[in-house]
Amino acid sequence: MHEPLVFALPADAGFAGRLAEAAGAELGQLATHEFPDGESSVRLTTDCSSRDVMIVCTLHRPNGLALPLLFLADAVRRAGASRVSLVAPYLAYMRQDAEFHSGEAVTARSFASFLSRTFDWLVTIDPHLHRIRRLSDVYTIPAVALHASSDIGEWIAAHVESPVVIGPDAESAQWARGIATAARAPWLVANKVRRGDASVEVTVPGLEEFRGFTPVLVDDIISTGRTMMAAAAHLSGRHSRQPVCVAVHGIFAYGAYDGLVAAGAARIVTTNTIPHPSNAIDIVPLLGRALRAGSTLVQIPTHSQ
Ligand code: R5P
Repeated sequence: MHEPLVFALPADAGFAGRLAEAAGAELGQLATHEFPDGESSVRLTTDCSSRDVMIVCTLHRPNGLALPLLFLADAVRRAGASRVSLVAPYLAYMRQDAEFHSGEAVTARSFASFLSRTFDWLVTIDPHLHRIRRLSDVYTIPAVALHASSDIGEWIAAHVESPVVIGPDAESAQWARGIATAARAPWLVANKVRRGDASVEVTVPGLEEFRGFTPVLVDDIISTGRTMMAAAAHLSGRHSRQPVCVAVHGIFAYGAYDGLVAAGAARIVTTNTIPHPSNAIDIVPLLGRALRAGSTLVQIPTHSQ
């Protein structure tokens, strides 16, 4: 029996090569082409008949990736793959999880429906589960959520002196708790009021008990960075040490990285679910272990994340 086969679109080729090695899989080859009218094509050059195929695609800026991903999955299926899975280190469209304004699309559900029709199972890292409590609430295929908390906690324990882990809002409590446990550090959760994409206010009750500690702001996503910036701004002047900012997924829209530096972040660190110069925590080993167990992972009921 052949080992699993990993394919990736060009942007993820380097990550996929390392992941294939970590997962004991073969890296499949393909060629892509973009036509003058903007349409695209994909051609597999590795035989995948009867192979267990994993397609690696981190879904940052998902709109331009969705169709090439569909074409690749269809090509793999037509070529006779026995199973087609999606490895999405960052899973997009998890935050529009309700109709916030009348008539609005609930894109988390639409996107989940699209991926559920395209793949046999998926694995991702720390999806934004909030009002949608489990991936199985919206995904109809087995969907496994892995957590980077241990890797992040170990990084904090190794690099930050006397850390106190702070989640910048109630939703981040799940990440703050897991990361602090792995870092063997105390943790707090801030109060956040969001008035718009770029208008956020954060306060940190209980901070005064942690003089002499280094604040480590942790969240699942840094997007506009406004949440982290507001938390850093609140700490400035109230705490003697500048905060370290850590996130699983670093999107850094609208100059968020520079904004965080200006807000007083001593260091900004992310995992490599989305490529960025701040990547300091490698999640390839975490994914590799999961994919090695892939045949059993899909037996796990999806509500067990
Ligand atoms: C919100 O619930 C998330 O956990 C993040 O706090 C949020 O998405 C970060 O967004 P931004 O960087 O735009 O403030």
